[in-house]
Formats: sequence, structure tokens, C-alpha cells
Amino acid sequence: MWFFFSPNIIYGPDSVDFMENISGGKCFIITDKVVKDLGYLKTLTDVLDKFGKQYEVFDDVVPDPREEGVLKAREQCLNYAPDIIIALGGGSVMDTAKVVWVLYEFPDFTLDDIHAFRNDLYDMGKKAKLVAIPTTSGTGAETTFVTVISRYEEEIWKKYFFLHRGLIPTYAIIDPIFPMGMPTELTVNTAFDALAHSIEGLGTLWRNEFSNALALKAIELIFKYLPIIYKDGKNKEARDFLHQAATIAGLAFGNGQVHIGHTLGHSWGSMYHVHHGKSVGIAMKYVTQFIMNDPDKDDAIKIYAKLARQLGWVSWSEDDKKAAEKVLEKMVDLQKEVNFPMSLKETGVSKDDFEKGLDSLVNLCYQDASSVLTPRSTNGEQFKKLYQYAYEGKDVDF
Ligand SMILES: [Fe+2]
Repeated sequence: MWFFFSPNIIYGPDSVDFMENISGGKCFIITDKVVKDLGYLKTLTDVLDKFGKQYEVFDDVVPDPREEGVLKAREQCLNYAPDIIIALGGGSVMDTAKVVWVLYEFPDFTLDDIHAFRNDLYDMGKKAKLVAIPTTSGTGAETTFVTVISRYEEEIWKKYFFLHRGLIPTYAIIDPIFPMGMPTELTVNTAFDALAHSIEGLGTLWRNEFSNALALKAIELIFKYLPIIYKDGKNKEARDFLHQAATIAGLAFGNGQVHIGHTLGHSWGSMYHVHHGKSVGIAMKYVTQFIMNDPDKDDAIKIYAKLARQLGWVSWSEDDKKAAEKVLEKMVDLQKEVNFPMSLKETGVSKDDFEKGLDSLVNLCYQDASSVLTPRSTNGEQFKKLYQYAYEGKDVDF
């Protein structure tokens, strides 16, 4: 038995007008100050006003949301008693909203009650529907059943995963009006997160025919439309398709998962407060090389060779190894084209800080759930070397 889970997806220009069709008249909007300041909260509330829906707003979500913030939002939600919860924002907003949704549906729960092995969480939606409206094109969190919430423990902010398929939003509205004004650097960082979901998704141990098909399409769209947006952020067609690509990549990731690129990226992001998309986007090339160098099997070579052929990057008769290497070459070309960093050093962490933090980084990797599905099991020494190579920008030769 296997699964394919997805929210109901409404996409394309004006899709936010679908709010009219969602039953319920009291909306609790979860968002952040950036989304509010960019005017996107008003875009949404204008739509709700048009359809005669009431709303109350929680706009205090912060990047890498913390347990305290989630509990504050839950309190406000319980007091307001909505029949629709709307998450308007990026990954942090979605993660907060999913947890608030559970704690609203099950008011006796704590965060630790959310885990994969309880059947009651399949009954989400009795009190409210969750509508996810992403404003960035990257995290795919509008499609997934995972949330990441931080807790301060042992003098460090640790990221905890709370997951259950019941946490998948009821609806995802993928309207390109929301990412239209995203600054270039954020557009590129979030797009590399989506690319990492697809590239890692093709290699992960949970890969399946559904996730493979979606990852392939997402990679094609990101390679086509990100360079266009990099030159012209107002290009409507490119914004629409990149926004769709992030959701498609999210479905691939949600149903196939990712692996050690995200492990390295999560730990790097926690330690040095570097954007998630930037951290995993840099790690992507190095972990792809690492799994392609697996001395015991050539699965990864075959997977990426097929990708290069399917996307027309090499001829169908090209040798597997050369075809797979073409994928690495294309990644680097895209990084250069949109001015994305090639090495972890370029995230501004000094060599001294990096060396001092290396053992803690590796310890965090052991605690990261993403590493479980890596196609090449990775020991502490290898995690350390991967960081060293990715920091210096050296090709992985082990
Ligand atoms: Fe990610």
C-alpha cells in the first residue's frame, strides 16, 4: 500500500476568487508583517469583503516559527472560533497555520501530540477548513503534511518536525498575484528550495511514479521560468508558471520526501540563520555528486541520466555517467545565470566560525529526519566532509 496526498488545488490568475466557493463566513488569517506591508493582506481582505466574509488577523508569524508564537496564535484562534483558517505567506506562515489548525480542532493537544501514528488526525476539518495561499514560490508547504517549529534547547534553537497526513491543507490557492512583487533574491532563494525538493525528490528512497513525474515537470518549469523572472520580475506568465512549479515540486516532496541536501541545509540554516532555500540550494549539487559517487550502486547515476535525457539536455544515446554529469553542469549554469551562491562560504560565515561549529553541525544532522531517506547512508565523517567541500566549493570526490 502506498499513498498520494494532496490538497484541493486552485491555480492561475484570479484563483483567490475561489474563496467565494468555500463554505463558512468567519476567517482567521495567519500571516506575517512582511506580507502585510507588501499589501498582500489587503489583496486578500478585499476579496473577503467582496464575498461578505468576516475575518480576524494574526500577523505575528516570524521566520523559523517558535512554539511560543504558535501557542499565541492558537489562543487567538480559539477565542475567535473561525470556520475557515487562511494561511497567507511563505513556509513559516504555513507551518504555524497547520499546527494552529490541529490545536484548534483538538484543543486538549500539545505540539507533542502531533505525530504520524494517530488516526484521529485524519479527522481534521470538523471545525474549520485550512486554506493555504502561498506568497512565495518555493516551500511547497501548502501541499505537505510536515511542519517545522523551533524550540530552544541545550543553548541552541532546534527545529522539530511535527507531521501527519491530516495536516495537509484542505485547499491550496496558487494565485500569481501574491508572488508578483517578491524581491529578486527571495525569488531565487525560494525557487532553489523548490528545485532542491525536485532534485532530491528524484533520488530519495520514497521516490515513486507519482513523485517522479511531478519532480520532472517542476524541474523543467523552474529551469525555464526562473531566468526569465530574474531579468523581469513582473513577467506575469513566468510568475504564474514558477508559482505552479513550486506547488508541483511540493507535491513531489510531500509524497516522496527529500534527503541529505535538506539535512545539511536545515543544520546550516539553524546554526547560522541562513535562508532555507539558500542553504539547501547550495547543498544540492554536493549531495547529488555524493549519491552519484555511491560505490555500491549506480541508481543515482541512472536517475539523473534519465532526467538529462527527458529534458533534452543530452541525446538519448548518451552514456549514463556523462548524461548524469550534465545535470550537475546545468545546475551550476542556472546558479551562475541567476547569481545564486556556489558555496556555503558565500553565505557569509567565516572560516573560523565554520570550523568551530562543524561538530555541532554534524550532531544536528543526526537529529534531522530528512537524512532517513537518503539513497546513500551517510556517516558523521561523510557529513563533515560534505560540509567542508560545500564550504570551499570543491567537487565531491568521495
Ligand atoms: Fe525545502
